[in-house]
Amino acid sequence: MADQYAVPADPAPSSLTPALRWEEPPEGPVLVLLDQRRLPTEEIELVCTDVPALVEAIRTLAVRGAPLLGIAGAYGVALAAVRGFEVDDAAELLAHARPTAVNLAYGVRRALEAYRGALKGGAGATGAAEAALDAARALHREDARASELMAAHGLALLKELLPGGGLRVLTHCNTGALVSGGAGTALAVAGAAHRAGQLRRLWVDETRPLLQGARLTAYEAARAGMPYTLLTDNAAGSLFAAGEVDAVLIGADRITADGSVANKVGSYPLAVLARYHHVPFVVVAPITTVDLKTPEGAAIEVEQRPGHEVTEFAVPQVPGSGGEAGSGVPIAPLGTQAYNPAFDITPPELVTAIVTENGVVSPVTEAGLAELCARSRSG
Ligand code: MRU
Repeated sequence: MADQYAVPADPAPSSLTPALRWEEPPEGPVLVLLDQRRLPTEEIELVCTDVPALVEAIRTLAVRGAPLLGIAGAYGVALAAVRGFEVDDAAELLAHARPTAVNLAYGVRRALEAYRGALKGGAGATGAAEAALDAARALHREDARASELMAAHGLALLKELLPGGGLRVLTHCNTGALVSGGAGTALAVAGAAHRAGQLRRLWVDETRPLLQGARLTAYEAARAGMPYTLLTDNAAGSLFAAGEVDAVLIGADRITADGSVANKVGSYPLAVLARYHHVPFVVVAPITTVDLKTPEGAAIEVEQRPGHEVTEFAVPQVPGSGGEAGSGVPIAPLGTQAYNPAFDITPPELVTAIVTENGVVSPVTEAGLAELCARSRSG
């Protein structure tokens, strides 16, 4: 049989402004973020000169997505160290800026450990700050490499599951270059399928309430020339029923030891739909998203976000607003209470496969996941 999945070309998402970069102008080092609250209408960069500004950017989703939060957290520690702020306090603030994506605490810890280790080794404040920055840069590079490997493993998995190619892939939230040092996670796999000529359609959930699908995934898909179609989240059911979805590809904010997956709210209903319609439900995430210390999904802290994100429309995109109450267009009577969890948990039995840079686990088992993680330590 002809190989429907011939190797794709170089995946560099070069047409995108980098989601984050470290700069050292004469006034002192800064962390520059592409302000994702403004996309897709405005490409504005946000310059963080201190940790409180970065924490605010994290809370309001100017910078977001699990892998990028880890990278931002690590650079945040470096920023505090380089600018002579209290590093332990800064690390504490950063690690708790958002609770669900385990990558954030991981990135902070990694830079902090490098900093403390250098201090202990007698490096002095400047040397320790350099060590923190080196750790952040290393994580940034590793994440880019992880993206490439996830794309390759994910594409190989799709080839195995759906050898005929011509895929119609449904995705949720945003998992591309905007959340990563590289091409991303789930969207990197879709991008690889596209370059292999095997992506017939990318179905993009708008992702209520903050519209990461409509604003960010559609933005990335358009730039990459992918054939994409946007849908409201609640249209997914009829799309499955019509036989229009061959696979679901999503990312993750935390994967627990038993293989439960925390991801953007609305992921779990897709997993249920996928199971009912016999469609593979594939999670793509770097090993830094796997949290073996948390035993199961029920133990994950799910971030609860303010109700006005639901009772008002287009909250984060209004120019000049920081996403506070009253910054969007009201769509419910004043005083309406809203349920607004940022994430939901998909149990492992609904997940066909988890794709990481270390390989694929399918079926998803505790032992299989632990073995994939162990490959990082041995390799
Ligand atoms: O609230 P967000 O926009 O930070 O949520 C992001 C997601 O849920 C992504 O799907 C997840 O971080 C995986 S990104 C590789």
